Amino acid sequence: LQSSLCAVALSILTLFFICRKCGARSSVFQIRYFKTSSACRNEVITVKTPAFAESVTEGDVRWEKAVGDSVKEDEVVCEIETDKTSVQVPSPAAGVIEELLVPDGEKVEGGQALFKLRKGAVAAQAAEAPAAVAAPPPPAAATPPSFAASAVGPIPTTMPSVPPVPGAAISFFYFCFLSQVKMNRMRLRIAQRLKEAQNTCAMLTTFNEVDMSNISEMRKAYKDTFLKKHNIKLGFMSAFVKASAYALMDQPSVNGVIDDTTKEVVYRDYVDISVAVATPKGLVVPVIRGVEGMNFADIEKTINELGEKARKNELAVEDMDGGTFTISNGGVFGSMFGTPIINPPQSAILGMHGIFDRPVAIGGKVEIRPMMYVALTYDHRLIDGREAVTFLRKIKAVVEDPRVLLLAL
Ligand SMILES: *[C@@H]1O[C@H](CO)[C@@H](O)[C@H](O)[C@H]1NC(C)=O
Repeated sequence: LQSSLCAVALSILTLFFICRKCGARSSVFQIRYFKTSSACRNEVITVKTPAFAESVTEGDVRWEKAVGDSVKEDEVVCEIETDKTSVQVPSPAAGVIEELLVPDGEKVEGGQALFKLRKGAVAAQAAEAPAAVAAPPPPAAATPPSFAASAVGPIPTTMPSVPPVPGAAISFFYFCFLSQVKMNRMRLRIAQRLKEAQNTCAMLTTFNEVDMSNISEMRKAYKDTFLKKHNIKLGFMSAFVKASAYALMDQPSVNGVIDDTTKEVVYRDYVDISVAVATPKGLVVPVIRGVEGMNFADIEKTINELGEKARKNELAVEDMDGGTFTISNGGVFGSMFGTPIINPPQSAILGMHGIFDRPVAIGGKVEIRPMMYVALTYDHRLIDGREAVTFLRKIKAVVEDPRVLLLAL
């Protein structure tokens, strides 16, 4: 079935390309006309790769614009995907993209020349060539951004002259012919780090379960007031982050790490918690700093800001550096139970899961309670079972009855 579908699709696509070729010729002419007429008036500038953060030296370019595209000032021209995050490169001025100096998917370093921009060329085109404006817009100039956005990964090298086609045709084309996509840098780095953790640490997981009745009640009672006062929703995450900070101060080895080069244990007297956030590009772990001194509202605000940044793809490398402990919440996807992997250079990670009503024994009777399983994966080289179990029980105690925090029990 797939091969016959592909045959049909191929013939449709071929027809489509032939038709498009006639159209493409006129658009090439238009661009050339405009180039020669405005060459003497408009300045061409070369835009360079912005400087990366300290720990990052290079990244892969993914173009959002093509040669001939008009851009506004600050409009994103390309994205550079580094090991930790994506850096968007905006246009320094309004103009037209004259030349791309690096092929799509290629490696660049900080300060390297990226593309040439003809400044102010948009206005010149409108003023000097009214006929060109009246003519139907050249399809080649209008479609490339969406083409780049829908086709994740490099454009196939075997068909470089293929003009852009609508999204549905592209997906069908890829369904038929392409199944390999280059791993992006972030995914590569994630893979490398996870494997590194497995190879280095003696990982072990301990489990417990948390009765969410009290914290749910507290949330129900105060969520409106909380929202009014702090302009933010009260979630369950703050309780777990705060409980972790409390337990980490109580069990310093869980907050420490083995330095494998010096064979020393590094203890930290502060708690910076990485919170795993899923984004379309992969998992990112922005850090909430100084959690030991924060209250629920501070934590919720910080999580919200970091989550917003992650969704907008604006997380900087600095937002993800450091971190002494990680919390991963599989509950948002409805997970019941799982074992997380340590995020190096850390020694433990807490896995939260979904809240489900379950029958539990309370004072000799079966009751239905909203329950959550929690898992703590730890590096057994540094942390003993006693510490790990005590740590997880502390989290359970705080979340089940937050008054424990106030009384420092
Ligand atoms: C909930 O809080 C009450 C006090 O209000 C406490 O007695 C009870 O043990 C708590 N529930 C759980 C499951 O810990």
